[in-house]
Amino acid sequence: MTARADRADCLEPEVPPSPRDYAAAAQAKLDRSVWDYIAGGSGDEVTLREDRAAYDRYRLRPRALVDVSHCELSTTLLGRPVSFPVGIAPMAFHRLVHADGETATVRAAGAAGALTITSTFASKTLEETARAATGPLWLQVYVFRERKVTESLVRRAEAAGYRALVITVDTPRMARRERDLRNGFSLPSYVRPANLDEGQRAGLHHGRSGSSTLAEHAERHHDAAFTWEDLAWLRSLTSLPLVLKGVLTAQDARRAAELGVEGLIVSTHGGRQLDGAIPALDALPEVVEAVPDQCEVLVDGGIRRGTDVLKALALGARAVLVGRPVLWGLAVDGADGVERVLATLRAELEEAMALTGRPGLDTITRELLHRSADFPYHLTSNDKEMA
Ligand code: GLV
Repeated sequence: MTARADRADCLEPEVPPSPRDYAAAAQAKLDRSVWDYIAGGSGDEVTLREDRAAYDRYRLRPRALVDVSHCELSTTLLGRPVSFPVGIAPMAFHRLVHADGETATVRAAGAAGALTITSTFASKTLEETARAATGPLWLQVYVFRERKVTESLVRRAEAAGYRALVITVDTPRMARRERDLRNGFSLPSYVRPANLDEGQRAGLHHGRSGSSTLAEHAERHHDAAFTWEDLAWLRSLTSLPLVLKGVLTAQDARRAAELGVEGLIVSTHGGRQLDGAIPALDALPEVVEAVPDQCEVLVDGGIRRGTDVLKALALGARAVLVGRPVLWGLAVDGADGVERVLATLRAELEEAMALTGRPGLDTITRELLHRSADFPYHLTSNDKEMA
């Protein structure tokens, strides 16, 4: 683990930690370049900040005198039960923050009854992760120039019991992430993309200032010529449901639905791809409206509280995904940390449902929200780093 344990802040045991408490403790523990890789976005990090700020532009309109003695959070995602509508977003290289890596994350998600989406760039093999999973599991897939690499990931996912493939569509190349360029970010020797073979891994470990080996890898291997027409090829490989991640417009959502895609993830890639892109929450309503009900729409980016989850659901998301908070929990306390982050989000969502008079997920509608266009938004310096 890339830890500076001597400097690690401990979380106050008697204070129930919020995801932001985990952020502070994780930052104290991790090497600067690893923290920056996780926390950072592309360009001026405008979208990174706005993904978060978009949630704070909404206020809630609670209804009173509703029986909220029981709030029901369970639902299904692509036909599989989950205990609440919060899942784990695909993120690369969990072993950057904890030696147990993705297997700890997936164990925690299973204990919480939550969905996990494993990244192509996981630091444990997708089979190891599947063996540790007790909840639903989807695999995020990049389409590589060498199509047989993608094809092999699809075959392995099917054999290992993954229930859906998440195709990332916002990364024909990696955006310039200046923190990584400044740090000359590369993978430490103990972290490798476990799903890829030696040929595909080459060059990821030897960084130099002014470059990011991950961006260079994407430049070499991602297929920037992959288009809508090629989706038929993916479809021909598998009977698993397909979910497109990184859709931000009604036009693309409609096209995906016409092609029979089973799910969409409205996402800016955590503010790590197109800087200046519309915040995911703001894109959500047009995407939801553009597709038939059977196409399930999820959203990620900037979710830090149960009330954020509630707002996304009110704008039509079937579920949300969380990214950075999961890695904060993992960095601080392995699987236990991830479990606590998920438990906090669950408890906060349940509380928000009770206090807004919305005891069931089907009672969470647009009418719950008040949007104040000119609500002044102030980022504290702490928020900037934790966004
Ligand atoms: C990978 O997808 C990343 O955002 O680093």
